[in-house]
Amino acid sequence: MANHFVSNYQKLPKKRCGILGATGAVGQRFILLLSEHPYLEISTIGASERSAGKSYAEAAQWRQSEPIPATVANMAVQECRPELFKGCDIIFSGLNTTKAQEVELAFAGLYPVFSNASMYRMDPLTPLVVPTVNLAHMGLITAQQQHLKSEGKGFLVTNSNCAVTGIVIPFAALQAKFGRILEVSVVTLQALSGAESKIETEACKILGSLSPEKNQVMPQQMRVSAACNRVPVLDGHTACVSLRFATRPPPNVLAVEAALQSYISEAQTIGCYSAPAQAIVVHKDPTRPQPRLDRNMERGYAVSVGRVREDESGIFDIKFVALSHNIIIGAAGSSVLNCEAAILKGYC
Ligand SMILES: NC(=O)c1ccc[n+]([C@@H]2O[C@H](COP(=O)([O-])OP(=O)(O)OC[C@H]3O[C@@H](n4cnc5c(N)ncnc54)[C@H](OP(=O)(O)O)[C@@H]3O)[C@@H](O)[C@H]2O)c1
Repeated sequence: MANHFVSNYQKLPKKRCGILGATGAVGQRFILLLSEHPYLEISTIGASERSAGKSYAEAAQWRQSEPIPATVANMAVQECRPELFKGCDIIFSGLNTTKAQEVELAFAGLYPVFSNASMYRMDPLTPLVVPTVNLAHMGLITAQQQHLKSEGKGFLVTNSNCAVTGIVIPFAALQAKFGRILEVSVVTLQALSGAESKIETEACKILGSLSPEKNQVMPQQMRVSAACNRVPVLDGHTACVSLRFATRPPPNVLAVEAALQSYISEAQTIGCYSAPAQAIVVHKDPTRPQPRLDRNMERGYAVSVGRVREDESGIFDIKFVALSHNIIIGAAGSSVLNCEAAILKGYC
């Protein structure tokens, strides 16, 4: 059951949703999240030519602990062509990166598209949105629609790389309270593959500010040094973070923990159905966070932060460990939250 700051979702009209890449890891999570959603309904599912024409149950190598929802198991999988998704109000994409480039652009001319692929994340007219951080960047949508000539209907909003999501949420909370973070060192222990340059560039765009004309995002000036690693973990990305604030003297551990724990994002206050009650959960137990125990905190929509310590070496100010669910807040769940926010803001 979702938590709500504002329980206005009952009044929202139902939206028919298409899922591109529905058979993959992210696509399977879309199936689970949307099949329980009160106003986003799955109407069309798409994947590669290999899967097209088969029932979903035949086509997908289902790897979730929950069974395939009965409403989806017998649905026919379509090829990912816009004309086969007629009648959809919204498109979610879990396409693999190379295919996404051409297909998502074709769909974005006609439908609101919420994507997990990396191809357009750094495009100047494409909002790169972590829903509990920078919903304001959806302000780019109007300029993007003019560029796409989509007549006010279609657009593309991307999520960040899954490892970036887990660190920018605590950064947003800390900057809201203490001002700019100047320097960051992050070492990730990721359940699935990541890429270093994405952490460095995407984090600065997400934390950047929308221009007054709403036609570009000025990236935050923050130096990020990242080292990414894969570990044998099913779901859940861990990040060990050290950072330095601009403000002197820097905040102490108790102030940092309080700022993280009390952070409230716009996704919560405007009443997004799937928003977590707590965007960041702070752990005092020195053995937490850990993937097995904490990845599903707040249904996978929260970031867990623990082991907050001062950096006694003096190189940085504060160190902590952050854990996030790479497929929920790091992928499909972010798209769903972004979509809920876009509906509440009148974009779709
Ligand atoms: N996994 C993560 O932790 C994670 C987190 C954040 C973002 N992402 C991003 O999300 C996207 C999906 O990742 P994933 O792990 O779910 O990938 P995946 O398991 O490999 O799934 C890829 C999906 O794309 C479909 N596809 C492949 N080639 C296609 C084609 N030529 N035409 C149409 N559909 C095609 C596949 O359909 P078939 O089954 O028919 O081949 C499948 O449904 C990627 O861009 C990835 O970078 C992933």
